[in-house]
Amino acid sequence: MKKMMGFIGLLSIVLTFAFFKEKGDSMENKIEGLPVVGILQLTSHPALDIIYEGIVDALNDEGFVDGETIEIDFQNAQGDQSNLNSMSTRFVNKNASLMIGIATPSAQALANSSKEIPIILGAVTDPKGAGLVKNNEKPGGNITGVSDLTPIKEQFNLIKQILPNAKNIGILYSSSEDNSIVQAKQAIEIAESMGYETTVSTVSSTNDVSQVSSSLVNQVDAVWVPTDNTIASAMSTLVAAADENNIPVFPAVDTMVEEGGLATVGLNQYELGILTGKMAATVLKGENKPQTMPIQYLQKGEIIINLEKATELGIAIPENILEKIKNQ
Ligand code: TRP
Repeated sequence: MKKMMGFIGLLSIVLTFAFFKEKGDSMENKIEGLPVVGILQLTSHPALDIIYEGIVDALNDEGFVDGETIEIDFQNAQGDQSNLNSMSTRFVNKNASLMIGIATPSAQALANSSKEIPIILGAVTDPKGAGLVKNNEKPGGNITGVSDLTPIKEQFNLIKQILPNAKNIGILYSSSEDNSIVQAKQAIEIAESMGYETTVSTVSSTNDVSQVSSSLVNQVDAVWVPTDNTIASAMSTLVAAADENNIPVFPAVDTMVEEGGLATVGLNQYELGILTGKMAATVLKGENKPQTMPIQYLQKGEIIINLEKATELGIAIPENILEKIKNQ
């Protein structure tokens, strides 16, 4: 009998634990039964963080509110490929209604995890080039979204106006990012058609940025960088090397100008997120399917200048550019 009492005591402890555990789990899942929207972000750098904010704001505006009408499962892979894979599988196992990939490597991991669940691309430079859609106009499968291809030609025109005597432009990017490979190719063509010499350097991870930038800034008059996640994650390292040699950096994006680049004609990262969130909302409402929704682009780049950096480097920004900024 004593043994039996002991057993019942133990059983009730086990049951109590089971009860609390269940409560804990359901707290984590917020409200049971809400459609799950999985958002996978490659890593944290300012541009991707702002894109995520835009996505959530647009979903809210369309009535998709976390914990009320949907469950947003937000995962950040910290730049790690095995995280990207396991987080994508997590969404599929949770039977997500829709998945959003912020940056190309995240979108590629999501695409490998499901051919059925709708996937919306959040700022993927070249969806077709990254093997994500058959055709940017007619995606054809379960994937569509927003491209953040920047106006590279306008960026080089800006370099020409700010540095009329520059001859050699350094191009720095990560050879492991499909989004950067396509931009670098265009940049080289544009620069050479404008009569520049180019010096191209690549990194394979953030660990290389310091050494590769230090050597590049010794050989060029300015450095151009695409929307590259690896460089964006180590922007301060590149800027430190460039500053030491008094070389300006022209990145393809506003957030990287704010972090010490000199100037760009870039797309508003928050607006990219808003557009992504709106496309996701259209699919969640059942109004359209990725298959027949063309990839969308932001139409207008804005000139962004870091005046403090210009002063630091002793570079005078031409009056007509300053005028244009006032009027945009
Ligand atoms: N276009 C990048 C990609 O396809 C993602 C991205 C968006 C990005 N905005 C950026 C990268 C700004 C660097 C800086 O992966």
